[in-house]
Amino acid sequence: MSEIVKELLYTGKAKDVYKTGNEDEVIIKFRDDITALDGGRKDTLSKKGEYNALISAKLFEILEEHGVSTQYIRLVEPNEMLTKSLEMIPLEVICRNIATGSLLRKYPFHKNQRLDPPVIQFDYKNDVYHDPMLNDSIITALKIATQEELDKIREITHVINKVLYKFLNECGLILVDFKIEFGFDKEGNIVLGDEISPDTTRLWDIETHDNFDKDIFRKGEKGVVDAYHRVVDLVLTAEEKEKWNVEKIEM
Ligand code: TYD
Repeated sequence: MSEIVKELLYTGKAKDVYKTGNEDEVIIKFRDDITALDGGRKDTLSKKGEYNALISAKLFEILEEHGVSTQYIRLVEPNEMLTKSLEMIPLEVICRNIATGSLLRKYPFHKNQRLDPPVIQFDYKNDVYHDPMLNDSIITALKIATQEELDKIREITHVINKVLYKFLNECGLILVDFKIEFGFDKEGNIVLGDEISPDTTRLWDIETHDNFDKDIFRKGEKGVVDAYHRVVDLVLTAEEKEKWNVEKIEM
């Protein structure tokens, strides 16, 4: 662990948040734990945390380059991210380019139907209520966000989707769907937080449509860490991989 890590503030399903010496900054530590099916399937997989942190850091850097404000400051260890402290909004913002997963279970979309414009959905981040889907009037009635803030979140989510879809496509991956979370910084700005990793996205190989994401684990198949390693290999530059000692992939 790095020296700037102080007291543990919060522990989630796959990440821990620590205080630092600076009250405006926290460290997010990506653990090797993986869960799916509302906590019904759990495991600990060596290197998973590191790969997710490296991928999230890279995607946050790309977004910052395109004008999206993120919580990310820098990586201090391959699995520890120094970030701006945010007051998180309890929403899971899900953005979909292709119909799959729960969308097919709940609605009559065709399998792999292209969604253009993308579908944006809000789930309530609340374990007691099992993350129910919300609409604008429930969100404003619960005072989770104002209509103006929601409109802003939708607008930023569309930008994030456009930027990441293009970047990942150039890396040989299709961004099928993803979940993101936002928070307020101390000036009251809406800022992208949390992570964007194969735990929170669906990424398919452009040619074969093979999964490189948590769906492998959801399906109970082996090879999830190898798939995340492959994503690291595709999205990081050679210099970045050398800096963080990412092992070469044996072909
Ligand atoms: P979705 O198809 O709704 O869920 P499921 O995995 O149950 O079929 O998921 C859409 C995308 O959002 C997918 O990339 C996974 C991500 N996601 C999360 O990261 N966390 C969540 O709690 C949910 C519901 C989705």
